[in-house]
Amino acid sequence: MAVQLFQTGEVGPIGVFDSGYGGLTVLREIRRTLPQYDYLYLGDNARAPYGTRSFEVVYEFTRQAVRYLFEQGCHLVILACNTASAKALRTIQQVDLPKFDPKRRVLGVIRPTVEVVGELSQSRHVGIMATEGTIRSCTYELEIAKLWPDIQVTGEACPMWVPLVENNEYESPGADYFVRTRIEHLMSLDPLIDSVILGCTHYPLLLGKIRQFMPEGVKIIEQGGYVAQSLKDYLLRHPEMEKRLTKEGTIRFLTTERAEQFQQKAAIFMGEGLDAERITL
Ligand code: DGL
Repeated sequence: MAVQLFQTGEVGPIGVFDSGYGGLTVLREIRRTLPQYDYLYLGDNARAPYGTRSFEVVYEFTRQAVRYLFEQGCHLVILACNTASAKALRTIQQVDLPKFDPKRRVLGVIRPTVEVVGELSQSRHVGIMATEGTIRSCTYELEIAKLWPDIQVTGEACPMWVPLVENNEYESPGADYFVRTRIEHLMSLDPLIDSVILGCTHYPLLLGKIRQFMPEGVKIIEQGGYVAQSLKDYLLRHPEMEKRLTKEGTIRFLTTERAEQFQQKAAIFMGEGLDAERITL
């Protein structure tokens, strides 16, 4: 029988985890859809980016973060990071959760995005733009093949896009080159693509430039809204989990880096000022 490791309360906030700032674009949409709940956001900024790290390292870091959020009283944790969802989610769900506490849940951002893609693509040719880690994991291909076997998927790693956002260069003329070349390369691999998933939580900040260089008629799929809707549906289907969520409408931010640095950059993602606390994983 599984031993409950976390002696926390019966109810708690929704934990939202990302390697750094990107998950804030998902949190923003979740809060817009579900403003009544409390949220605890954790960004592992000291060890970001995860996008170029190995499977083992991303899994270990993500596992530590999930455990920390459980210790803080979260019963439900959203991995608001594609790289962590691609490389760590399944193992955490199958191996760690039964040991940690079988009643707690960890959900990712890839499945909710994959669920909608089949309804959006007419040509049945879909592109994925994401970090190297997500593309190399082939998680999007595998998940799409399960739900929509008639769809042909082409992945494009965009290793410069996260640094452009992290360094506040996402609106600079220099960013044009990196955005344009990756889109051109993806479309040259499969000109029939009619829908492109932005499979990285940082990319919504580059949306203006992505729209500028994407061929006309190609749909750009941003995942924040779909993840939020999927969470809403999940809570309707799982009242036993919904009852375990506190509902004061609050939000707390934790980071593994300096709090001041997090506050400054996070304000860009959230579109509002905020306070953060530094923690150690
Ligand atoms: N948040 C990550 C993702 O969605 C990107 C940033 C990183 O590489 O850590 O894949």
